[in-house]
Amino acid sequence: MIRVAPSLLAADFSNLGEQVAKLETCGADMLHLDVMDGHFVPNLSFGVPVIKNLRHKTHLPFDAHLMVDGPENMIEWFAKAGADYITIHYEATDDLASVVDKIHSYNIKAGIALKPGTSADVLQQFIDKIDLILVMTVEPGFGGQKFIEDMLPKIKQIRAMIQNRDIILSVDGGINASTALMAKEAGADMLVAGTYIFGSDDWSKTISSLR
Ligand code: DX5
Ligand code: ZN
Repeated sequence: MIRVAPSLLAADFSNLGEQVAKLETCGADMLHLDVMDGHFVPNLSFGVPVIKNLRHKTHLPFDAHLMVDGPENMIEWFAKAGADYITIHYEATDDLASVVDKIHSYNIKAGIALKPGTSADVLQQFIDKIDLILVMTVEPGFGGQKFIEDMLPKIKQIRAMIQNRDIILSVDGGINASTALMAKEAGADMLVAGTYIFGSDDWSKTISSLR
């Protein structure tokens, strides 16, 4: 069964705790936490204190999607804040392998995110040491953008690369009921959605519609 990870970027930030608890009762499988530094992407979102406070509001696993330059210096912060997965961008560091090792040293799962312009081929050298791959189907930085359909062959290629390894293939950006179908057909097993879920009146129904 396909997993659904709501992205809090589209939430009402004045009321995060309640919304996170509600997402859990509405059937979310994981929470997707978009951390932005205003350098790696031209936007700011939230950071460690928010994640730390939310940790007590839900049992859902947390995937911290770090859209930051130099993530190597921040791994400990997010580990201590309660992340279950830390997903870093291939494009954000020169020494991805050692950042992945650092994440694992805290007993946390490690993910690699790829911007739309980055080829799936770069994953080959890390495939045996990662737990999640996040394919961006929009340029990272903002919610509410249109799904880039040209990313579907890349999702297929990564699905083939994964073979029978225990790696989650997550797709992030512009997900709604129709793009979810395309992403699933291409091989995604987790869908990140912000605007589509938070913009709807019935979160349970919207989350099920993605499955
Ligand atoms: C973009 C973020 C996404 C995005 C998802 O930088 O990584 O998680 O906010 O939001 P929607 O579903 O609105 O595209
Ligand atoms: Zn994200």
